[in-house]
Order: sequence, then C-alpha cells, then structure tokens
Amino acid sequence: MMSHLLGLEDIDLFTIKQILDQAKKFKEIFTRPIKQVPTLRGKTIAQLFYESSTRTRASFDMAIKTLGASSLNLNIAVSSVNKGETLIDTARNLEAMGVDAIIIRHPMSGAPYLLSKYLKIPIINAGDGQHEHPTQALLDIYTMREICPNLRGKTVLIVGDIAHSRVARSNIWGLLKLGAKVIVVGPSVFIPKDIVNMGVSVSNDLDKVLPKADFINVLRIQLERKGSDIFPSQREYTNLFGITETRIKKAKKNVVVMHPGPINRGVEIDSAVADGPYNVILNQVNNGITIRMAIIYLLLIRAVTKSATYTRSQSKK
Ligand code: CP
Repeated sequence: MMSHLLGLEDIDLFTIKQILDQAKKFKEIFTRPIKQVPTLRGKTIAQLFYESSTRTRASFDMAIKTLGASSLNLNIAVSSVNKGETLIDTARNLEAMGVDAIIIRHPMSGAPYLLSKYLKIPIINAGDGQHEHPTQALLDIYTMREICPNLRGKTVLIVGDIAHSRVARSNIWGLLKLGAKVIVVGPSVFIPKDIVNMGVSVSNDLDKVLPKADFINVLRIQLERKGSDIFPSQREYTNLFGITETRIKKAKKNVVVMHPGPINRGVEIDSAVADGPYNVILNQVNNGITIRMAIIYLLLIRAVTKSATYTRSQSKK
C-alpha cells in the first residue's frame, strides 16, 4: 500500500485491487446491528474541504466513524485561511495537533501532492481541481465490478466535459489498469486534444458509440462554468449528448448507467434514466463509504505498522 492516496495515475494494479478487496470485506459491517468497529479507535482524521461537497464529505465522515475514529471537519469559511494562512501552514498545524491523516478537496490541481511533500501523515485526495478524484473513480470501479467482476475487454463510455473533469481522469487511469476499453464522448470543446495519449478512444458521436457500451458514466455539466469557455448552447448539448430514455434504447439491453453526482436532471441525463432500471447511481453513493473506509484503513494500518517497526528497532539500540 502507498503512503498517500493522491491519484490513480500513480498507483499500481495491485494496490487498486487491494483497496477494492478491502472495501468488499468492509461491506459486511453494514449488515450488523451496530454498524461500527473499533479498528481505528483513538485516531483522528481531519477533513479540509476548500470546495463544496455532499457525497464525498459525508461518506468520508461515515467511513471514519464506522472505523471507530474521530472526524475533524475544519470549516474553511471561518478558519484562519481567511486571515491569509497558507494551505501548508494550515495542514502542518493540524499535524502538530496530532491528527493521523488529512483528507483534502481543493480547487487547485496538485494541492494534495504539495501537502504530501511537507507532511509525514497520509494525505487523501478528495478531488483536486481538474486533475484527479481517485476515491470517486475507485467507487465507480467497485460498482462496475459488483455487476461484472472482470472488466477486461468491457467498454466504458465517459460522456461529457472530459476536459474539466477530475472524475474522468481518475476513471480513465483506473479502468485502463483493469483492462477495460474507454471511449470518451462529447463535443470537441470538451475533449482535450492529447487525451488519446492516455490510451482512450474519442468520439463526438454518442449515438454511434452507444451500442458498444457496457457501462455509461455520465459526467455532470459544470453549469457554474457558464459564460467562460463552456459550450455555446445547453439545449444543443442535451440534444446531442443527453442520456435520454429514447437514446438509451440504442444501447445494449443490460447497459449500466452511472453518474458521480450531483446530477443536472434534464441536462446531461433525464430523470427517466437517472431513476430508471439501468441506473446504479445510489449504489455508487453507498459504495463510496466502504471504498473510503478501505483507503483510510490501509493507509493508517500501514502507518501503525511502520511506527511499530520503528519502535521495535529503536528499542533494540
Ligand atoms: N461526486 C462528488 O464528488 O460529489 P460531491 O461533490 O457532492 O462530493
């Protein structure tokens, strides 16, 4: 296991499978009357969310508490960040207080990497700019493997604003490592020119590639970006790339529709599909808890093992 979880580009297949297998083991805890274990009792994990979140933040919170650890949610809006304190200083102060790991979401790509250079405790990337969202991709992959345990040769369409999507980037790295074929689909303005170098195929014609799909991962159109370099017409986007009930009939009968959330109903996906028989969107949300438990557990157990080894070797001197 690695020392941090910064992105899926940097981690190997063995580690990805280790996290997925550990998450599967943790599922059983949620069938118990008391849905909590004492595994990480006495540990404190800080959450630094410099950007809004519902799913990631809440499921990290649940993951931490289910493992018996304490969650320290720093409210950035009323923190000393407002007085100009730097990210590194904020994080190092929390480390000095004895927190055992830091989970960070930040609008700047690379912020978690920066922290990992300055801190000794594990850093977990909960989404950095347009770069990576590794825990989202791992829960997406976990959800796909619940339906299809071997993803080798399966075709995953990732539809939407690939250029600005950290979810797309992490999914691509993870899915390719597991042997899946990835087709990124969207208007040219949403497809980075060098994306083929990652090993994916590109299509600007959703209707043409739809019949190939085993899974369709529909990305959120980032409406908050409107007015900058976003697409010219929302209606045109929906006509060409919206996942509608009519369009989904062109796909395989057992195609699986996914969405990381939050959903813009009627924009990138219709409610009939988002709530329909093909969707696993709330399964993704549910799996987010066990995936995040697995990551925290593997990182902290490794840290415990490392410090125990250190103590033993010190005591021999
Ligand atoms: N999928 C996702 O990251 O959702 P939140 O922004 O609500 O955490």
